[in-house]
Amino acid sequence: MWLRCTIIFRRVGILSFRRAFHAAAPKMAKSRFEYVKSFETEDRLDPKHWIVISLKHSHYDKLADTYDLEKPNDRRLIQLLEASTKLVMSDFKELVLAYGFGAEFSLVFAKNTTLYRRRAPKLLTNLCSLMASSFVQLWPLHFKECSLIDPPVFEGTVHLFPDDQSLRDYMTQRQLVCHHRNLNNTVFWSLVRDCRVSVDEAQDIVKGAKSEGDKNEILFSKCNKNYNKEEDVFKKGTIIVRTSTQASVRTPDGSVTQRNQSCLSNLCFDFVKDQFWSEIFVLDQPTKVNPKTNYLKDFEKKVKLLPHSWIVVRIDGKGFHKFSEKHSFTKPNDIRSIELMNRAAKRVMEEFPDIILSYGQSDEYTFVIDRYSRMLDRCSNRAMSSIVSLFGSTYVHNWVEVFENTPLQYSPAFDARAVLYPNNSCLRDYLSWRQADCHINNMYNTCFWVLVQEGNRSRQEAEEKLRGTFSKDKRAILKEFSREYDEEDALYRKGTVMYRDKLQSDETEDTKASANESCKGPGNIAVEHVDMIGDAFWEQRPWILGNERSVRTLEDIDY
Ligand code: GTP
Ligand code: MG
Repeated sequence: MWLRCTIIFRRVGILSFRRAFHAAAPKMAKSRFEYVKSFETEDRLDPKHWIVISLKHSHYDKLADTYDLEKPNDRRLIQLLEASTKLVMSDFKELVLAYGFGAEFSLVFAKNTTLYRRRAPKLLTNLCSLMASSFVQLWPLHFKECSLIDPPVFEGTVHLFPDDQSLRDYMTQRQLVCHHRNLNNTVFWSLVRDCRVSVDEAQDIVKGAKSEGDKNEILFSKCNKNYNKEEDVFKKGTIIVRTSTQASVRTPDGSVTQRNQSCLSNLCFDFVKDQFWSEIFVLDQPTKVNPKTNYLKDFEKKVKLLPHSWIVVRIDGKGFHKFSEKHSFTKPNDIRSIELMNRAAKRVMEEFPDIILSYGQSDEYTFVIDRYSRMLDRCSNRAMSSIVSLFGSTYVHNWVEVFENTPLQYSPAFDARAVLYPNNSCLRDYLSWRQADCHINNMYNTCFWVLVQEGNRSRQEAEEKLRGTFSKDKRAILKEFSREYDEEDALYRKGTVMYRDKLQSDETEDTKASANESCKGPGNIAVEHVDMIGDAFWEQRPWILGNERSVRTLEDIDY
């Protein structure tokens, strides 16, 4: 966290603020909670390998039903996914190629990228959340007649390909899947819609047609359709390539100079043919058509999270310093931003009943998944991408309602990491660490902005005044402005804790859940701004952490 702050402050050019902030840091560095950071892993991807991130809309069937999507292909959805992908590629210039069909898109990073030092979770989750938030932001442009009801979840996978041949094979395989799926769907829906064949019968006919020729023949003879004449985008999917062009740019002194500018182009090509790889997306190594693509599944980077450990997924806004300035967030805390974060977190908890508690402050949110959960097969990438995408999409979905007259200028991205904590005390220390961080930042920021806004100090003067101060000094400064720190809103001092509550309003103390009882389920999410560092919170709510289960046989783990 301290390192991250350092980078941000340097970038935004308020180095002095950073120094003052760091003056209080050594005290915090000695905190007994700080050690929990050592449970975090880096997960860097090998250098000189192609990194491909595949993103897939998780509830395509529901989407198709809710918005009555055209079958077998809905042009609006194809264009929306393409536009969202282009927004992602505009933000992440190191993405050089993308391919999509149906509800999925695969995005390829430049082979030598060092973005985020090739940390897989950071690459995956930034892309995934931006895809989801862009999808929501762009929805009204493509679905003019119906508003979006449910913000989407995108699940992401990471593939690491060691050479050019395996990249080509992967892209070719995806395009073949597109082709086969589209041919099947075209036959099925043509039979049902044009030939009035029943759904069951159409399914049998498609299943019975073994070869491509058979399917083409059925389409031709029964529905009078020539598959070759179907639209290319349906048959071959969407390819987006980053190309570089020379553009004339006027410099500040008025002269004109040539600069390299990248642009995104849509192409229609067959990945199986050499031409794309030798003329459009030129590869360094020689490649050839390879019918055997089974080996590709071994290149997916899958991380299974250890059974019986607490899973913590923490998300954090990307560049929220800039985002908050661009959208004129009030300082030090903007209640609208907190409200948006809380709404997004609540939606995530509703979607994933195994999240037992969440905690939010500033631009970050922590989600704690039940240690015995089998949610998304305890697959790290699936958990991180699903949570971060739903969070990002809900954030944008609620923007207009919360920010009213402040238009959203661009879709925000969030990153996520998944960390395992082996026991209750480590998990509690993790949560204490985040809440202590909230306390330190909020106390500093409250003092800083009181000095600037009420004390008419410049930012530099405020920072100098706070340099080297301890908690009691800051409380004293606030008192000079007739403010008691402890009387500041608990929402800002403590952050927001959400957990599954067992108590109904008509229940008595006797019916309070014990540690034995699980409170999994979508209902009863309590939202509080309370202390989690002391024991009281946990003693009064024993069901949150529950009892530890012993393991005697493999079935107990069931993993
Ligand atoms: P990365 O996370 O590294 O991408 O950088 P970041 O700019 O998001 O910074 P970081 O996550 O460390 O800190 C969050 C930043 O968001 C704060 O430093 C603030 O600038 C901004 N922020 C978050 N909440 C509020 C708010 O309520 N009001 C204002 N004014 N700013 C906020
Ligand atoms: Mg951030």
